[in-house]
Amino acid sequence: MQDTLKKIKEVALKDLENLRTLAELELARVKSLGRSSELSQFLRTLKDRTQEQRKEFGQTANRVRAELEEEFEKTKNRLEEVGYATLEKFDVTAPGLRARRGHVHPLTQVQEDINAIFVSMGFRVLEGPEVETEWTNFDALNTPADHPARGMQDTFWLKDKKSNSKDKNWLMRTHTSPMQVRFMQAHQPPFRMIVPGRVYRNEATDATHEFQFHQIEGLMVSRKGEHAPSMANLKGVMEHFYQRFFRDPEIKVRFNASYFPFVEPGVEVYIQGSSGKLAGKWLEVAGAGMVHQNVFEQVGYVRGEMQGFAFGMALERMAMLKHKIDDIRLFNGGDLRFLQQF
Ligand code: PHE
Repeated sequence: MQDTLKKIKEVALKDLENLRTLAELELARVKSLGRSSELSQFLRTLKDRTQEQRKEFGQTANRVRAELEEEFEKTKNRLEEVGYATLEKFDVTAPGLRARRGHVHPLTQVQEDINAIFVSMGFRVLEGPEVETEWTNFDALNTPADHPARGMQDTFWLKDKKSNSKDKNWLMRTHTSPMQVRFMQAHQPPFRMIVPGRVYRNEATDATHEFQFHQIEGLMVSRKGEHAPSMANLKGVMEHFYQRFFRDPEIKVRFNASYFPFVEPGVEVYIQGSSGKLAGKWLEVAGAGMVHQNVFEQVGYVRGEMQGFAFGMALERMAMLKHKIDDIRLFNGGDLRFLQQF
């Protein structure tokens, strides 16, 4: 019997020698001292022995158990020290792993550039609602329901959920121009402001069209008189803006007569630069003109008292020209290979 106990002890100690981790130690502890270990089984058979044997073997077995427990404790301490030693080899001066951060979307970057240029010219930056009424989006902008220009902008109409507003048809704004109306209803000239924001058009998507894109509206109005904003001022503001935006002081601006119901005269703004995509041809970059007196009247100004200009351009077009991007769909595609270039 004493031999059995001796054997058990030897095997257990042998196991301990080759341990390398705390997990292995735990497995060995279960094997040597656990409920189904040889030692535990031995102790369970004691009840079948004589009184004397019980006393003798019991004492020996418990001593072996105590000795083994002590050895396991020592081994545990040894393994933990090795663990700390490994930690000490950690080189705190080694270059770290770079944490990957996101960044501002290219359209947001371009928008911030644009805002900064207009702010430097004294313009305020405002935003407005994307869900608009038919009145602010069209009627007040001199575009009544039977007006042929309604067809220029395919509209997403919303179902009117408010039963008490029969006169209101809701839509997703087709341009940022309704903010001209909202702003003038609430403010008296003189002022100059821009409105960046998302707009919606119910049309098919291709490389240059999205049903959802962004515009920047501009509006500068004063009381009529010597210093009231003129077509010449509009041209100067446009020229300064495009020269700074494209970092090309050679950029020239040209107006082509055009039609938008809320301006008279109305123009398309063309630019030509000295290098890259901007050189050699005239590019259409904005719509603009002198605010129509019908619009002033709609917002509550006295007809003939105010004078000013308005313009509107697409943010995506600006970003595409600046960064030589040839497909508008890339902006919302979520492809990191595209986004990470900015
Ligand atoms: N709102 C016009 C459009 O979306 C652009 C524009 C704005 C034209 C202001 C003239 C004046 O096409």
